[in-house]
Amino acid sequence: TNFEFIKTELAGEKKNVAVITLNRPKALNALCNGLMKELSTSLDQYEKDNSIAAIVITGSEKAFAAGADIKEMQPNTYSKCIMGNFLNDWTRVAKCQKPIIAAVNGYALGGGCELAMMCDIIYAGDKAKFGQPEIALGTIPGAGGTQRLTRVVGKSKAMEMCLTGNMISAAEAEKTGLVSKVVPADQLVAEAVKLGEKIGTHSQLIVQLCKEAVNTAYETTLQEGLKFERRTFHATFSTEDRKEGMTAFVEKRPAKFNNN
Ligand code: HXC
Repeated sequence: TNFEFIKTELAGEKKNVAVITLNRPKALNALCNGLMKELSTSLDQYEKDNSIAAIVITGSEKAFAAGADIKEMQPNTYSKCIMGNFLNDWTRVAKCQKPIIAAVNGYALGGGCELAMMCDIIYAGDKAKFGQPEIALGTIPGAGGTQRLTRVVGKSKAMEMCLTGNMISAAEAEKTGLVSKVVPADQLVAEAVKLGEKIGTHSQLIVQLCKEAVNTAYETTLQEGLKFERRTFHATFSTEDRKEGMTAFVEKRPAKFNNN
C-alpha cells in the first residue's frame, strides 16, 4: 500500500517485525485524520499477517508526534466533534491483538504521548520528551492522557503534567514507569526491533493471550483480572504450543511453536 503520512518496512533477521514510521516531518508528525487512518489501515494489514510477530511504531529523531493536528482541529465545534465521531480512528492501536512497541525519540506530546501509551511497551531515546500540553490550548487530553497516564505514573505526576502542560524527560519517564527502557537516540529503533524479535521467538498465539491478560489489569478489578488470568492460563493447556513448550524443556531442546 502507498501511504502519504507513514512509511512501513519489515525488519529483523526473519523480517517478522513491522516498523511503522510516522512521516509528516513538516508538522512534527502531528496526527492528522489522514495519518491516523493510514496507521489503522497498516495495523489491519499486519494483524492479518501471520508472518508478523510484533509491530514497532516510531517517528523521527525530533518528534515521535507533537500531538493531534491543532490546525485541523481549530475550526471544530462540539456538534462537529460528536457528529463526525472525532477520535474514532484513535482506538485502533489499543485494540491491536499483536504486541506494539512505541519507539519514542523527541517530542511525544498530547495525542503523541497518548498514542505511545496505547502501545504495549514504550522504549525512549535519551532526548525524548513526554507531555500533555492540551491545557495550554484550552482543552484537555482526549485519548488517554488523563486516564492511561494516571494509571501508569500515579495521580500526583499525571495531575502535574496535565495541569501545567510541562514536559518530562526520558529519564523521568523511565523513573515513573512510563517507559521501560531509555537508549541512545540513534540505537532506539534497532533496540525496539530486537525486542520485537525476542517476542517473536515465542508462540504468537500465547503472546496474544498474555497481552490480553496484562491489559485486563488496566480494565477491571483485581479479582476479575485474576479470574481472567487463571482461566486464560488454564486455556493454554488446550494448545499444542503449551505442550510443545513444556515438552521441549523436559527434552532439553528448543521449542518449535506453530501457533496452534
Ligand atoms: C499542527 C503542528 C503541531 C501540532 C507542531 N506543528 N505541532 N501542527 N499540530 N500539534 C507544526 C508547527 O505549526 C510548525 O509548522 C512545525 O510543526 C514545526 O513546529 P515549531 O513549533 O516551529 O517547532 P519548535 O519551535 O521546534 O517547537 C516544537 C514544539 C511545538 C514544542 C513541539 O511545535 C509545539 O508546542 N507543538 C504543539 C504541541 C501541542 O500542543 N500538542 C498537543 C496538541 S492537542 P508551521 O508550518 O506552522 O511552521 C492534542 C489533543 C489530543 O494532541 C486529543 C486526543 C487525540
